[in-house]
Amino acid sequence: MASTVDNLSVVVHGAGVIRLENQSIPEPGRNEVLIKIHSVGICGSDVHFWQHGRIGDFVVQKPMVLGHESSGAVIKVGCDVTHLRAGDRVAIEPAVPQENDDFCKIGRYNLSPTIFCCATPPGNGSLCRYYVHNANFCYKLPEGVSYEEGALIEPLSVGIHACRRAGVTFGSNILICGAGPIGLVCLLVAKSMGAAKVMITDLSPERLLMAKEMGADITLQAKRETPQEMADAVCGHLSGMPDITMECTGAEVCIQTAIYATRSGGTVVLVGLGSPMVNIPILNASTREVDIKGIFRYCNTWPMAISMLVSGRLNVLRSLVTHRFSLEDSLQAFETAHQGLGIKIIIRCDKDDPL
Ligand SMILES: *[C@@H]1O[C@H](CO)[C@@H](O)[C@H](O)[C@H]1NC(C)=O
Ligand SMILES: *[C@@H]1O[C@H](CO)[C@@H](O)[C@H](O)[C@H]1NC(C)=O
Ligand SMILES: [Zn+2]
Repeated sequence: MASTVDNLSVVVHGAGVIRLENQSIPEPGRNEVLIKIHSVGICGSDVHFWQHGRIGDFVVQKPMVLGHESSGAVIKVGCDVTHLRAGDRVAIEPAVPQENDDFCKIGRYNLSPTIFCCATPPGNGSLCRYYVHNANFCYKLPEGVSYEEGALIEPLSVGIHACRRAGVTFGSNILICGAGPIGLVCLLVAKSMGAAKVMITDLSPERLLMAKEMGADITLQAKRETPQEMADAVCGHLSGMPDITMECTGAEVCIQTAIYATRSGGTVVLVGLGSPMVNIPILNASTREVDIKGIFRYCNTWPMAISMLVSGRLNVLRSLVTHRFSLEDSLQAFETAHQGLGIKIIIRCDKDDPL
């Protein structure tokens, strides 16, 4: 690499401190590829690491590059890489298990204790110009799938994994709590898996409008009702109780609502992360056989997401993007995200294809 080439990166140095810094350009190892990053989505977790310097037990102890929703072009491959070559456009799956343990063998590699995710301390993220990643977790983007869509596969994957865990199928009636980016990807995936009716709730009328545009059958603005009242309102609007509730807010009252609203024998999936300890009506859930399931990221989702994008049946995904910034302007992008403006903010990292 010529010394004139920069590797500008967005680095968090603990709570409240975020800077644009130049780091050296890494060399790919045997099974790695060097990627010229094109598009990176800002995630709630990036904003949280910047604001609080931690998420639960994951603490920013040394400077960390942010960003894990990304795509770019391969510019160099390690000596053992056979399925990719320079020039390939790829989407990056950020969390990589380090060992082929029992969880990997059964296909649930997201549960491996050795999983290592970029932009979760201590792993450096991909919000920079040049980034190295395990080649097996880079997926070639076919013609017709844009870099921006490639970056959106990460949040989309959360929706795919949540819908799979929930058992969404042809004819499902579904309640989604929260119309932020994750609620919206759950909506998109549930509809394309054949859900009959999807209802979505949020405090914000703007977000509900967006949900309506993205195919929600019913929207309902929450107005700080009690969980029982909210559950009754949901069942009234849905003409019955949902088979599945996907809780995407993490708020205690919403988890309570999710349990009360879901029909007996149904499933509540906890997608949103909030307080580590919450009160929930556990007897109500257990005596009605309402299953409560957790999700941790995703696994085995990139190939199917790419197939769906190629098919054209997920074209609406791209309308999640409401703001775009160049890498040089990324501090402004983070301010915008922090103010809760828009849905998905994308940062363009390629100097040859900026904004
Ligand atoms: C991550 O990048 C920062 C900034 O370049 C650097 O200071 C830090 O040592 C890196 N961390 C790791 C684990 O490589
Ligand atoms: C559980 O919640 C449902 C739905 O709100 C309600 O109809 C039912 O009476 C509750 N059952 C118990 C045992 O609290
Ligand atoms: Zn994310």
